[in-house]
Amino acid sequence: MKVNGKVTRREFISTTAAVGACMCGLNGCLLFSLEGDTPQIRPPAYAIEASDKNLEIVIDIGKAPDLLTEGNAVKIIDSRIKEAIIIANTGQNAFTVLSIACPHNGFEVEYKHDQKIFKCISVSRAEFAFDGQVLNGPPRKPLTSYPIRRQDDKLIVSIAV
Ligand code: FES
Repeated sequence: MKVNGKVTRREFISTTAAVGACMCGLNGCLLFSLEGDTPQIRPPAYAIEASDKNLEIVIDIGKAPDLLTEGNAVKIIDSRIKEAIIIANTGQNAFTVLSIACPHNGFEVEYKHDQKIFKCISVSRAEFAFDGQVLNGPPRKPLTSYPIRRQDDKLIVSIAV
């Protein structure tokens, strides 16, 4: 309902929520959710093991079979690791692991296999290379890149502590 020719706050919120629109301009780069569509995996699909200098996230591919498909990605959000990560199957048996939170305002990035980039879901749509470097957009810092290796039916991500 319009009041004195203006859209009411309730109407504005319900309309923008219904279409998933952004509120860019009210608070910079702001959507209603920081989360993208990347599926999250949870134990027992992975375990976290500690060594002297590292934490290792050991992913059981048999329990996270989506990762075997080129172009797919999963995320891990776990309080035992310092930041949430995204793991993408980038093709030809290669995997890339990056921190998932965009350094600009913390929205998640998603893997875009057709473009071979990671892209922030916010309206600013920052883009990142496989090594986490910023290709486009407002972030001034890269995403963190983590080494990953395959060992039989396991993928092992090393995270320095
Ligand atoms: S949060 Fe703004 S570009 Fe990613």
